[in-house]
Amino acid sequence: MDLIKRPRRLRSSGLLRDLVRETEINLKDLVYPLFVVEGEGIKTEIPSLPGNYHFSVNELLEEVEVLRGLGIRYIILFGLPDIKDEVGSEAYSDSGIVQRALRAIKENFKDVYVITDICMCQYTEHGHCGILTECGYVHNDETLKYLGKIAVSHAKAGADMVAPSDMMDGRIGFIREALDKEGFEGVPIMAYSAKYASSYYGPFREAAHSAPAFGDRKSYQMDPGNSDEAVREGALDIEEGADIIMVKPALSYLDIIRRFRDNFDVPIAAYSVSGEYAMLKLAIEKGLMKEDVILETTLSMKRAGADIIITYFAKDIVRLLKQGK
Ligand code: PBG
Ligand code: ZN
Repeated sequence: MDLIKRPRRLRSSGLLRDLVRETEINLKDLVYPLFVVEGEGIKTEIPSLPGNYHFSVNELLEEVEVLRGLGIRYIILFGLPDIKDEVGSEAYSDSGIVQRALRAIKENFKDVYVITDICMCQYTEHGHCGILTECGYVHNDETLKYLGKIAVSHAKAGADMVAPSDMMDGRIGFIREALDKEGFEGVPIMAYSAKYASSYYGPFREAAHSAPAFGDRKSYQMDPGNSDEAVREGALDIEEGADIIMVKPALSYLDIIRRFRDNFDVPIAAYSVSGEYAMLKLAIEKGLMKEDVILETTLSMKRAGADIIITYFAKDIVRLLKQGK
């Protein structure tokens, strides 16, 4: 007698499906982005990222307390300085907004892990991720010196991990050396290795006041048509000392996450960016999709091979998981 293959057998009950499920979202995989601003008493919802806020330092502490209560222990900090200049000096000032936020968090919480984004675009008047030459081109090697300074000042202020997002060549090796020289051998680097020149960053640029004043970022961020190039970037970053490599955005680049997983044996992070959040949030608000789509989408990133997911949905995910979704 011919035996019919019956994969459906394993789908016959919820308990059984749980038993054989390959991929799950774990709270400990999630990193929540937070935006910190100058001033006092500020908690203002970000119009382009509903449900996310600009916090002044004290209010940020209250939010971190809420996150801890939910079981979210990993955050990534973005700073919005009041003053911008040619060289982004607020980015590496000891009294910069991120540095002050770091010290405050570290003084108040021992069990929250703080990652900082290292870039210059929020801090430069022109809004580019580096130092400009006279003809308006981002100067790679000149920029490295500033990235090194930013990383060291974050580490001094208590950053647990730094995450350079500028896409300059050689940045990981340069930052690693700068950190080591100052005694921060223990601070890991999460490299934005495959960061694409993406329209999905739109809501973030409004949230972080970091849109370039002219031109675009295509001379440093990756072309969405490329995949092999991402593997080359990942390999270089690991060689230069990256502890974790990242793919950004996540949703339209699941194939890249999978290639990283198959090619490299370091932890992989996926940044589910502002446009991905906005897209789903708006569709849910309109009643076009059930909220469950948040879990399904996040799960796709894990299934593609991500160990770590940076997501504006972290709080929603906790709530949905608690509801047993
Ligand atoms: C820039 C930076 C960007 C994001 C974080 N840091 C993208 C950009 O403006 O090029 C995007 C994050 C998001 O969209 O959620 N260094
Ligand atoms: Zn930048």
